[in-house]
Amino acid sequence: MQRMTAASPDYDSDPGRWRAWKPAQDVHDLVAPSLSGPVLDIGCGEGRLASVLKPGVAWVGVDSSMTQLAGNPHRPVVQADMNALPFRNRSFAEVTHLWCLYHLDDPVPAIAEAQRVLRPGGTYYASTAARTNDPELVPEGYPPTSFDAEEAALLVGRVFEDAEVQRWDEKLVVLNDREEVRSYCRHHFIPAERAEQVEVPLALTKRGVLVRATASESRPSSSGSFR
Ligand SMILES: C[S@@+](CC[C@H](N)C(=O)[O-])C[C@H]1O[C@@H](n2cnc3c(N)ncnc32)[C@H](O)[C@@H]1O
Repeated sequence: MQRMTAASPDYDSDPGRWRAWKPAQDVHDLVAPSLSGPVLDIGCGEGRLASVLKPGVAWVGVDSSMTQLAGNPHRPVVQADMNALPFRNRSFAEVTHLWCLYHLDDPVPAIAEAQRVLRPGGTYYASTAARTNDPELVPEGYPPTSFDAEEAALLVGRVFEDAEVQRWDEKLVVLNDREEVRSYCRHHFIPAERAEQVEVPLALTKRGVLVRATASESRPSSSGSFR
């Protein structure tokens, strides 16, 4: 199998890149209605999941970037690496890895860490984009990363027995003017000149997955610990 590379995190060195563009709707809106808490939001960033939770749902955010945590209005948050979560086994009803596992060379130990802190019967969620995302701007496809939609279910399935996938492949995003296309390109590491070559408004085909899985009731309490 081809060795995939991790997307290098730049959230502290270039926070403007991540903040350049924000979708009106995202996978957070798909996940949040199912969450009853306590939720552990791993790689929580600036709190987009916490912002759409139902009222009263207990939430804890974890991220390695101090810049992201400083821009996150929700509390409590903890600075930690997702490969070594500072929480006890079986502490959370739901654990999320939304748009973050592609930052790791090998996402599987972090998925096992997520399973370790999930209560038996608790639900795990992970999202990522496909290499064929945004074909109108990236017709040649995005470079492979360590956690693309093409392999996400396989990788989650190395830890959880019942990984199931919800895919999307639709024109979900409209970029209304040239400036918005430029911002989108910056946010997605797309060469800047592409923004000048497309017609606006631009309807973009979004391709990606949400993987859901359940922590088994029968696993031993020490299983999956990498600590
Ligand atoms: C693309 S952002 C997604 C943020 C958020 N989940 C969202 O959906 O808006 C990825 C986040 O993962 C965090 N991250 C990257 N590597 C990490 C690691 N090893 N441990 C914890 N967080 C990490 C980054 O700092 C960043 O906030």
